[in-house]
Amino acid sequence: MAKLTFVTESGEEITENDATGNLMEIARQNDVDGIIGACGGVCSCATCHVRVKPEWMERVGRPGEDEQDLLELEDRADERSRLSCQIEMTEELDGLVVEVTPL
Ligand code: FES
Repeated sequence: MAKLTFVTESGEEITENDATGNLMEIARQNDVDGIIGACGGVCSCATCHVRVKPEWMERVGRPGEDEQDLLELEDRADERSRLSCQIEMTEELDGLVVEVTPL
């Protein structure tokens, strides 16, 4: 079982204790405020933006090329930014914490 925590802009923490699969879908299933996923996860809307906690950056990995191109268009994106629809939650990411930051 892999634990995943979303921290919303208002500071609310939403934890899923058995998280597997697409991070954006997990957020939507848990009604996480600030994650919309308008494009359905095809990396074309950026409404699923999160910031990865610094200690998790290496394990989660960097954005792919298409994801990076989309993030570069957004003023609020930074070096910790990822699009949650491009992250697969696995056992290796057990304990992951991401901050929800609508762009
Ligand atoms: Fe559209 Fe992630 S859901 S980019």
